Amino acid sequence: FDQIRPLVAQHIREVRDFPKKGINFRDIMPLFADPVLVNELCIAIADHIRNSIGHIDAIAALEARGFLFGPQVAIHLGVRFVPIRKKGKLPGQTLQASYIKEYGEDIVEIQHDALKSGDKVFLIDDLLATGGTLRAAIDLIAKSGATVSQAFVLIKLAPLKGREKFPEVDLVSLISYD
Ligand code: PRP
Ligand code: HPA
Repeated sequence: FDQIRPLVAQHIREVRDFPKKGINFRDIMPLFADPVLVNELCIAIADHIRNSIGHIDAIAALEARGFLFGPQVAIHLGVRFVPIRKKGKLPGQTLQASYIKEYGEDIVEIQHDALKSGDKVFLIDDLLATGGTLRAAIDLIAKSGATVSQAFVLIKLAPLKGREKFPEVDLVSLISYD
């Protein structure tokens, strides 16, 4: 990732006081003005999986912004893509995990048959803040009987200490902000 990291970092916009005063929002959307770079990033993630992890059965990613990357990486690897969505969005039988957000509790879901026992999963999201979202996703994948080989985020907001919520899972973050 050493070559692509500074190029991606140049496309992350800092938006002060969004969505409310005091929050320094890291906006990844300028990245998508450069489709060649987005494609190179997704290829770099796929190459990393091939070279450092080896076989995986599926890519899982989180609604909404994880979906900007997960399916592309899955296509490059020729493996399944498994969506993890907010409650009430996925049809059929689902498994649920709850997590604490700024204002109360939220729930994420996975379709009950999306993964099977023993599957190795690579988990992708755009950003790690307090870690509640990735913690819930890891719990869901475990409830499915599968295991997370590694998690990946483009951005880690280090002071929020989200990393401490899932010490048992390996994490790669492309860019870390203090
Ligand atoms: C953001 C971000 C991560 C999560 C990180 O998503 O995309 O998924 O928050 O926060 P945490 O580490 O504190 O849990 P958000 O819930 O805003 O949803 P969106 O991607 O659908 O906008
Ligand atoms: N940027 C994007 N998404 C987020 C952030 C942020 O700074 N914090 C929590 N979710």
